[in-house]
Amino acid sequence: MSTQYLPGAHKRGSFLRYDTAVMLKRFYLVERQLVISQAGWIPGLPSFEAKTLSPHMLWQDAQNANSLRERVFELRFPNRMLEVGDDQVLIDLVRHSCAAPNGYAFLTAMATVWKPALLAAYREYLDLADEIGDGPTYRFLQLAAREKEEQIGLLKQLIPTCEEADEAGKRLAEAWLADLAMKFQEAGGLSLDRPVPVQLAADAAFSPAEVPRRGGAFQHVRFYWPDIVDDAFPYGEGLQLQMRSAVSHFNEVWAVENAGFLIHALAEQLEWEFIVDASRWIYDESRHCRMGYDRLKSWGFEDHELPLGTYIYDSCRGQDLLYRLGMLFHFESKNIGKKIERIKSFGQMNDRLSQHDMDFDWADETIHTSYGTKWLAKLLEHRKQETSTSDFFDIKRVCEQLVDKQVQTATEAEIVAIKRIAGHMLSKVSG
Ligand SMILES: [Fe+2]
Ligand SMILES: [Fe+2]
Repeated sequence: MSTQYLPGAHKRGSFLRYDTAVMLKRFYLVERQLVISQAGWIPGLPSFEAKTLSPHMLWQDAQNANSLRERVFELRFPNRMLEVGDDQVLIDLVRHSCAAPNGYAFLTAMATVWKPALLAAYREYLDLADEIGDGPTYRFLQLAAREKEEQIGLLKQLIPTCEEADEAGKRLAEAWLADLAMKFQEAGGLSLDRPVPVQLAADAAFSPAEVPRRGGAFQHVRFYWPDIVDDAFPYGEGLQLQMRSAVSHFNEVWAVENAGFLIHALAEQLEWEFIVDASRWIYDESRHCRMGYDRLKSWGFEDHELPLGTYIYDSCRGQDLLYRLGMLFHFESKNIGKKIERIKSFGQMNDRLSQHDMDFDWADETIHTSYGTKWLAKLLEHRKQETSTSDFFDIKRVCEQLVDKQVQTATEAEIVAIKRIAGHMLSKVSG
């Protein structure tokens, strides 16, 4: 028998199936934890820009993580275990990043540590792996690398909007960032090689802000339109309806914050599929919010003229997560029936932009209705509760009561203030 063989030393053969799966699993675990951390910070970010533009990144990361996860399963078939193993140190470091002293520090950690590390690792992987044997990975990882590059650019624009005004806050952030960078380096960074264990000081437990931070020059109120606190004030028709609808969209910032809170709080319990759905959910709500803001700006309004409220988010404070989820489900979908009517009305008014926004919003809301039903049922199932239609009615009823209770606390001064704000807006556009 001949001992002569054809040569097989080729760069393409560098990684076998197992090596590849180990690296892709590491990327998945880091992306997953980053999605949870980014979501948890949404209510605590002080700027409207950061709060409403970050969900896009978070959704991209969740999509990429999902592709990575599926690819690991393919490569390891029939094994569907995703053991953490040596990568625990990286997960702990991402968790540690969540314990940032403020939003500025958190976003800077994303922009200078995590996103560049992922970008570099993806590029290294794409350079060393094999586009023939491992072709399916290339499509989504090339996209992810491009997205990470864009995210770093966006984060650099958002960071200045979250700067702390006081010197002490800035110093705290700088010291914390230097420490994180050092620990990350000690762990060997994020690479194709396994990380090195590092000692991390115990962090204070992080939980998303129950009182949302709201910066910017807006009119910071609890109740964002007079009809919320005064039954006699009409929702309106014509121009008043155009305005009310835009202010509603703009005020969906509460839904963005609430979805961020829920992703962080329920990720471990409801697991990966929930994280994927809820990432889309938060991204959609952020787009609805931007739709309203964009329309109001196109009509000539300045930030300081726009009312930004908190009352629905406030009504979830200290409540069971079941009601926070119920609130997102119910208060977002309760007007779904009226939306078709509004799409028609805006068409008759030749307000193509409001019509367009409502049209796309409607498509998103139909998806959210299924998310709401599915995840409320799963949460009840976790509590060993059989779900029946009456449970959904009960949750909805409690949510309505919680919001009503908030509305009852409106003071005379708040009612006068919101009427003045709305009056000014309406008179400005009435000419
Ligand atoms: Fe929405
Ligand atoms: Fe929604």
